[in-house]
Amino acid sequence: MLNFHGQHILSVHQFERVDVERIFEVTDQMRPFGRREKVTNPLKGAILSNMFFEPSTRTRVSFGSAFNLLGGNVRETTGIESSSIVKGESMRDFARVLSGYSDVIVIRHPEMGSAEEFASASAVPVINGGDGANEHPSQALLDLYTIRAELESQGKNVDEFRIALIGDLANGRAVHSLLKLLSLFHRVTIKLASPQGLDTPPQLVELLRSRGATVSESHDLHEGIQHVDILYVTRVQEERFASQEEANYYRGLFRLNQEIYSKYCESNTVIMHPLPRDSRAQSQELDEDLDSNPNLAIFRQTQNGVLVRMALFALVFDVVKQVQSSASKPTWHMPRPRIA
Ligand code: NCD
Repeated sequence: MLNFHGQHILSVHQFERVDVERIFEVTDQMRPFGRREKVTNPLKGAILSNMFFEPSTRTRVSFGSAFNLLGGNVRETTGIESSSIVKGESMRDFARVLSGYSDVIVIRHPEMGSAEEFASASAVPVINGGDGANEHPSQALLDLYTIRAELESQGKNVDEFRIALIGDLANGRAVHSLLKLLSLFHRVTIKLASPQGLDTPPQLVELLRSRGATVSESHDLHEGIQHVDILYVTRVQEERFASQEEANYYRGLFRLNQEIYSKYCESNTVIMHPLPRDSRAQSQELDEDLDSNPNLAIFRQTQNGVLVRMALFALVFDVVKQVQSSASKPTWHMPRPRIA
């Protein structure tokens, strides 16, 4: 089992099944804090540098919130243009400087391998918040945690589930990390459906097959979404294409809406998406008419993101026990009307 204390979290390849189970066990313990039934501060005095050099809302804010919920402080840079990288500073110099200011660093950067390069020069643990089309380990963990929770709520077995991933499977780092994590499960059935030209990298398909998963690939949305427990929809990753024209070509080819869902999906198929969904008229891979479908789990997924990230920090700082021992009741209460 991985000793998380002081570790970088750069790739899901670092984890065995037992490590994932440990992260989820700690994630479960974070629920009362996520619901603000309790507050805690084992990371009092610690500083997270949240370094995002690509657009982000969920990942950046949920990492920040997770750190705050454990009592730590957050410093942020957003946008490559406001950092000294535009002055020609190397990732290694940048890492050495920043790790003198911080106790942990989350980095998102457009280049594949950037998080690893950054980590190699950092004196403090680095968490990969997405490096180009390569990996997004915390997203894959929150996705798998959500899959587990959704399946359990339907009384299904977490080891033998059927999942379809649809959309831009070539460029989606969330998909790439999730598929690697799924390779830790032995009897998963995986359907991969993408527009022609946006296929899953073959080495990932190979990896899954070599570990015992049943994998099929197609370019047909309607066939691809049938007979599954989980349907994981993704956005065309427009920022990864050589030109806007090329990205435009793929937009809107795969669209899921309530009518298609009702016609082809099993009645309790859970719908997930790493978000953001592209709601512009020419895209709409996940139509807003699905918002009233109780199987739409996208906002449960984002809520779970904070809990999983709290768990990662608690493990990396080795304060899992202190999370509970320094817990108290909040001195405030915020009435929250339910969002429709
Ligand atoms: C994903 C990403 O940035 O890779 N978003 C996220 O972190 N939730 C997926 C995407 O942008 O399509």
